[in-house]
Amino acid sequence: MTPVLDIGEFSLGFGTTQGPARVLDRVDLAVGPGEIVGLVGESGCGKTTLARAILGMLPEHQARIDGGHIRLDGIDMLQNSEAARHARGRLVTLVPQDPYASFNPLFRVGTQIADLMRWTAPTRKRRRFGGSRRIDEAAALEMLAAVQLPQPRKILARYPHQLSGGQRQRVMIAMALLPQPRIIIADEPTAALDAIVQAQILRLLRRIAAERGVAILFATHNLGAAWEICDRIAVLYAGQIVEAAPRDAFFARPRHPYTRGLLASMPEPGRDPVGIPGDVPSPLSPSLGCPFSPRCSRASNICRDARPSLGEEEPGHWVACHHPAAAPFASV
Ligand SMILES: Nc1ncnc2c1ncn2[C@@H]1O[C@H](COP(=O)(O)OP(=O)(O)OP(=O)(O)O)[C@@H](O)[C@H]1O
Ligand code: SF4
Ligand SMILES: [Mg+2]
Repeated sequence: MTPVLDIGEFSLGFGTTQGPARVLDRVDLAVGPGEIVGLVGESGCGKTTLARAILGMLPEHQARIDGGHIRLDGIDMLQNSEAARHARGRLVTLVPQDPYASFNPLFRVGTQIADLMRWTAPTRKRRRFGGSRRIDEAAALEMLAAVQLPQPRKILARYPHQLSGGQRQRVMIAMALLPQPRIIIADEPTAALDAIVQAQILRLLRRIAAERGVAILFATHNLGAAWEICDRIAVLYAGQIVEAAPRDAFFARPRHPYTRGLLASMPEPGRDPVGIPGDVPSPLSPSLGCPFSPRCSRASNICRDARPSLGEEEPGHWVACHHPAAAPFASV
């Protein structure tokens, strides 16, 4: 299967006042057509930075790409080519964490959707759209209905502050779908919502991926949310992918000690969550060896000296660890 999104050996740093910070370190990740891949990791591990790199939204003067590739449908997204510029916002779109901050509070929802449609339309059609709001409106209404917003015409007439958080996020999803992208990057799309609305939005994303064949890269620190909707899950730790596996194998047989620590720290009925001792390493002083070694109970000398590379422990189950765990998770 040719992936829609193919990231290989991608490394990126930021220039900071304290020196260079290595934020993404030889990241390998692929997302197939219609697949939902969870990108899971603690705050600061690099999820948003990777999303921004894919979307070409990095701060130009601070970010430095140190190697690797990001390809979308075969287009090299790290080049400032016509094809890459055209792909951004069309073949790949974003559902952001905070829908409220992503709207312009001064304009009605319908105006903002019409603007987006004009911008994402092929160049020769843009002028035509200017005088043809009916075409805009029909497509917008269809998309708002697709994200299960009742009375979509009323939604178009409202200002963002007149919508609930869940309605705003549904509109954001509709806007992400309008250009008919191949992949949507959803960066913590439910973090600002209460639990019931979170579950509704997750189900909606799952349905959209299945019905429309659009792939989703779902960045989250919430393993429960990843379990709900993902086909596959990849764990990012200190800017490195340390484990990637199909969902069921990921939860039943996690192999990386960090993944096991994350799962053990999930609240569950009848079990007190166990936190991971120690802190995430600073991107200002990346280690030569395994970045998890200062916190890992299985660490040996080789772990401190040599970074483990991703190896396929079972079909489709990749782990970067010198001493991966073998037992099913329940016996930890
Ligand atoms: N413009 C920047 N300049 C310097 N460092 C940055 C910049 N943007 C992000 N970083 C650093 O990059 C690292 C990764 O940040 P990022 O926002 O990608 O993490 P994240 O996984 O999305 O975290 P969260 O779960 O909190 O959203 C952090 O150490 C952050 O401080
Ligand atoms: S490589 Fe070593 S330190 Fe790193 S996670 Fe595996 S056992 Fe732990
Ligand atoms: Mg983030």
